[in-house]
Amino acid sequence: MTIDFKQDILAPVATDFAAMDALINEGISSKVALVMSVSKHVVEAGGKRMRPIMCLLAARACGEENLENAQKLSAIIEMLHTATLVHDDVVDESGLRRGRPTANARWNNQTAVLVGDFLISRAFDLLVDLNNMVLLKDFSTGTCEIAEGEVLQLQSQHQPDTDEATYLDIIHGKTSRLFELATEGAAILTGKHEYREALRHYAGHFGNAFQIIDDILDYTSDAETLGKNIGDDLMEGKPTLPLIAALKNTSGEEHQMIRKSITSGGTENLDQIIQIVHQSGALQYCHKRAIEETEAALAALNQLPDSIYRQALNNLAQLALNRIQ
Ligand code: IPE
Ligand code: IPE
Ligand code: MG
Ligand code: MG
Repeated sequence: MTIDFKQDILAPVATDFAAMDALINEGISSKVALVMSVSKHVVEAGGKRMRPIMCLLAARACGEENLENAQKLSAIIEMLHTATLVHDDVVDESGLRRGRPTANARWNNQTAVLVGDFLISRAFDLLVDLNNMVLLKDFSTGTCEIAEGEVLQLQSQHQPDTDEATYLDIIHGKTSRLFELATEGAAILTGKHEYREALRHYAGHFGNAFQIIDDILDYTSDAETLGKNIGDDLMEGKPTLPLIAALKNTSGEEHQMIRKSITSGGTENLDQIIQIVHQSGALQYCHKRAIEETEAALAALNQLPDSIYRQALNNLAQLALNRIQ
């Protein structure tokens, strides 16, 4: 069965989704014109809105029928996500995001850093209004861990000896942690603490699979499809899983070329590295790991009672995996 995003994932929360989108636009409003235009530039470019959808579906899967607060929480999560992207593009010196020039490219680094800060602060400002100390604590701790994940990645930049365990720590922090906040946050908000762990595990493994796939696509896709440039990871000398696996599977000249490219960064060898990544079996390995992570996500999800919302969360995990199939 092919999964249709609108029908098989979005439909059960379509009304909540529209409300959430309106809340994001309210949330990013500011009396400072530059803050508005930068935030709008990124938010209006769209994006897949996976984290807010996950939050809404998780709240419904917990049995909640009044989604007013969950709509607010999902808007907050998308604002946090947007902020991390705006900051990430400064750190990665990326020029293209969601098919548009990044904030740092369209304006400059200073503007992008400060507007990213605004978005994080605004998100917490709105979170306080939900009046839930457990939720606030969960998000405060979680966002610290997201920042730590990004810094851990920076620490591993240009380090060809980075192993898979460190890679997993990095992606868990920088990517999976926000997915965890989206679903575990829904359980906290709806008072269904018994589902916190299962929903956290679902989202954590989902996030790992999602980032592994994203890291594959950085070597196999194109800017048109992705809305961001490929080769950015190699450019920055990032030891992502395709390279970690390729290093394991090669020896001699090829092995040395990958090591050298991680150490120096740059894209002079991009074509050759892409070829090695393809031919060494590295992509198959990454693909296998993404499948394992997705299976772990689905197993965790099964601890929730069956519902159309749980099924939609299941579909979402499968669709994310299909990005490379
Ligand atoms: C991009 O996330 C950052 C990663 C974790 C790879 P998404 O791919 O969800 O970005 P948008 O929101 O759809 O642009
Ligand atoms: C994802 O990191 C961004 C965050 C999770 C903060 P990447 O740098 O790997 O993702 P893209 O390729 O820029 O979206
Ligand atoms: Mg990055
Ligand atoms: Mg990036």
